[in-house]
This record gives sequence, structure tokens and C-alpha cells, in this order.
Amino acid sequence: MAQQINPSILSADFARLADEAKAVEGADWLHVDVMDNHFVPNLTLGVPVVESLGKATETPLDCHLMIEDPDRWAPQYIEAGAGSVTFHVEAAAAPVRLAREIRAKGARASMALKPATPIEPYEDLLPELDMLLVMTVEPGFGGQAFLDIMLPKIRRTRQLIEKHGLEMWLQVDGGVSAETIERCAEAGADVFVAGSAVYGADDPAKAVRALRHLAEKATGTPGS
Ligand code: DX5
Ligand code: ZN
Repeated sequence: MAQQINPSILSADFARLADEAKAVEGADWLHVDVMDNHFVPNLTLGVPVVESLGKATETPLDCHLMIEDPDRWAPQYIEAGAGSVTFHVEAAAAPVRLAREIRAKGARASMALKPATPIEPYEDLLPELDMLLVMTVEPGFGGQAFLDIMLPKIRRTRQLIEKHGLEMWLQVDGGVSAETIERCAEAGADVFVAGSAVYGADDPAKAVRALRHLAEKATGTPGS
């Protein structure tokens, strides 16, 4: 599996979302952070914006739901055009049922873990998922410092994926930059969300290519 770079539009100019999405065409997915001011102390965007964004770019949408009651809301994001939907296990009432519903509606099902949430209790759920997201900051804001203490969890998650012979992807999100991406890749991540490291750069598309190059170099797996 090639390494994938998913720019997070949380760090983009929200008044120019269509242009900002186009500025990173060539990225694998566009990461869209949905926050409800309850699950996290910040408020971003919802279904109508996702729907418009989907029409404005060819890049598939990777929706990261940092919201309460994802069991209720996730299907609407698929209908709005999301190709991948990530819910937080801390917020989901019935994660297995929800993952199955996401897949049944035709999107990739993904589950996220906050920094203090261990992977081990969820080992048996992994076959239900297309991606596992290990948060490398406390969710809620872009531009935070990468939590190095998450590297062992990334490693343990990769080991569990291999143990079960699964094809699923392992995503990291938070503080991923040219300084930290190699450590994540070496630990076993293969999908990298980057907000400020991409949109804070003079040339976002170039920043995506540079991050991809570093991730590939770290694992010796040049892209497809
Ligand atoms: C944080 C979000 C991230 C955020 C990452 O809660 O989930 O996707 O945009 O931003 P950076 O890359 O700047 O840490
Ligand atoms: Zn995110």
C-alpha cells in the first residue's frame, strides 16, 4: 500500500474552500474535520458544506467526525458525498453497527481513538473497519504539537493489523509535518493527515509531495 497524504482543510481559508481544495489536487483524500462544539470544544462545518465541497473537487472526501452521536449523523455525510467516514469510538453508541452501516451505504468505515483511548479493547472490531485513526493530538484544533507518546500505540496497532492479516489503513492526525512524518511512517502509519504543514506552506501542493516523499523514504515503499 502506497503512503497517502490527506491535507486537512481545517487549516485552509474557510472563505475560499473551493480554491483551497483545488490547491491540493494530487493529494489522495481531502480531510474534512467536522466538529460540533460538544465532543470537542470547537465548531467547524456540517453536511451542507461537505456536499458543496464534494462538488468543488475531484479529490475524495475523508470526513473526520468529532461529534456526539455519530450513529445518528454519519449516514448523512455519506449521502453528502464522503468516500470515507471516521467516527470516534468514544462517542459511538454501537461502533460495530455503525461501521457496518457506513460500509453498507458505500463508504469506507473508519474509527478514531483519542490519545488516551487504547487500541487493545477494540482488537476484535478491526475486521469491521477499513481504517483506524490514531490521533496524535487531542482533537479539536489544528496546529498543535505532535504527541510522540502515541508512537507505541501506532506500532501496536500495526502489529494487530498484521496479526489478523487485514488490508485496513492506519491513519495519523495531528502535528504531522516534515519533522514528524518519518517517525509515524516507521511506526506503521500509512495515511497521514496534515493541516498546518500543508496549508501553512507557500505552495500546498508542493508540501503534499514533500511529505509523501519523506513517508516513502522512511519505509522504502515508493508510491504506486
Ligand atoms: C484536529 C484535527 C486535525 C487537524 C490537524 O482535531 O482532527 O485534522 O486539522 O491539523 P495539524 O496538521 O495542523 O495538526
Ligand atoms: Zn482530523
